Amino acid sequence: MENLSRRKALSLGVALGLVGVANPAWASKGSVTGAAAGAGPEWIWDDAADPLMASMLDNGHVPAINTAWASWVDNNDPLPNGLPTEFAAYLRQVNRLPTWADPAKLARAADFNRRRDTYLFMLYGLGSGIMSTVIPREAKSVYWSAGGADMQDRAAKTFTFGYDLSQLGAFRPTGQFVVTANKTRVVHAAVRHLLPQSPHWRAVADETTPISAADILVTFHSLGTYVYRKLRDWQIPFPAADQEAFLHSWQVAVHLLGVPDEHIPQTWAAAERQSAQVLTPILTPSTEGIALAEDLLGLTAQVDLGVTRGFLNEFVRYVLSDEVGDWLGLKRDYVSAALVRTAWPAYILFREGLSPVMPGTFYMFDQFVRALAMLFLNKGSSGTTTPITIPTGNRAA
Ligand code: HEM
Repeated sequence: MENLSRRKALSLGVALGLVGVANPAWASKGSVTGAAAGAGPEWIWDDAADPLMASMLDNGHVPAINTAWASWVDNNDPLPNGLPTEFAAYLRQVNRLPTWADPAKLARAADFNRRRDTYLFMLYGLGSGIMSTVIPREAKSVYWSAGGADMQDRAAKTFTFGYDLSQLGAFRPTGQFVVTANKTRVVHAAVRHLLPQSPHWRAVADETTPISAADILVTFHSLGTYVYRKLRDWQIPFPAADQEAFLHSWQVAVHLLGVPDEHIPQTWAAAERQSAQVLTPILTPSTEGIALAEDLLGLTAQVDLGVTRGFLNEFVRYVLSDEVGDWLGLKRDYVSAALVRTAWPAYILFREGLSPVMPGTFYMFDQFVRALAMLFLNKGSSGTTTPITIPTGNRAA
């Protein structure tokens, strides 16, 4: 039985490009501080933010915080007025880059993100976004938290994170990423206090407190490590300095989300190893995940992406494997499947200047990626990214 699931994990890993030596133990030797940790990250939540947010929620301060921090956007914005003293003191402590952050690498990462935004939108949006629905703990907590009831809004907010991360100067004083990451860390801390109060979540969860440091690392692998592997598999030019910079920006992001440094992978090799241990084997469908995937893919019904739902299903199958597509019940469209498998590589070759032949489907793909970006960014209607707010309750049913 064990062998069977190990084999299953390996074959899925091959499909996702996330294969390594399966070993259930967390290895911290390849982490940014190079030191082995005490408790494994599955037993670490957030000592700084969790008690604070429990108290903010229990004392009814969250609506005032949400109002006050709406105007707190840029990394160098002063903390807004109207925050509870304790909360402001916490932010003053954490709202800064780690000492090991390397401004040159961060600047290069931002430039890389801009140069590669087409592939990043596709891979984060349709690859990582849909993968999150087959990460059971993530799917169950997202579904049963307040935000699960409005997936378009939630997807847009989550995209704010990626968007702010990929802006030129994201980490500089005039950028916005440090603030966005700190807001996200606080939202996660609030969720750790709220979700255990949800009878619906408790009925399906295999844990008592959600969003451990281990879970955050799993999600990092579904985003950064997955995208890294796909870009390489697609043979997109990816010089070593870009690879290193891209990793560094994720290391800083994961640090800002509150994961202790000793658990953050130091190299892509270490990240891929960790991903093979902790992400690939846990992927599986759940009632909540299937519903979320349907919600996310159904969003496209509201905008004209220039492609059909069948094409979208097949693109997801292409980037995540047929196994995941089958789990999520994504209906087959064999004509689109053949198109994606031949035309997408041709589109990449042409865009990268590696082939002089412009595929007939070039504009269709171009329209598709632009429309996706617009959809997730909500730019079409508001012209700005969706602000992150702290929830005060859970999804009702
Ligand atoms: C909220 C990003 C890991 C569950 C958010 C938000 C962002 C975000 C930007 C705020 C937007 C919103 O309110 O929806 C990330 C990133 C992660 C990560 C970048 C790791 C690299 C996780 C994990 C879980 C999780 C591991 C659960 C296992 C949630 C939930 C919310 C949330 C339940 C609240 C949604 C609500 O408002 O109800 N996350 N997250 N996140 N995240 Fe995460």
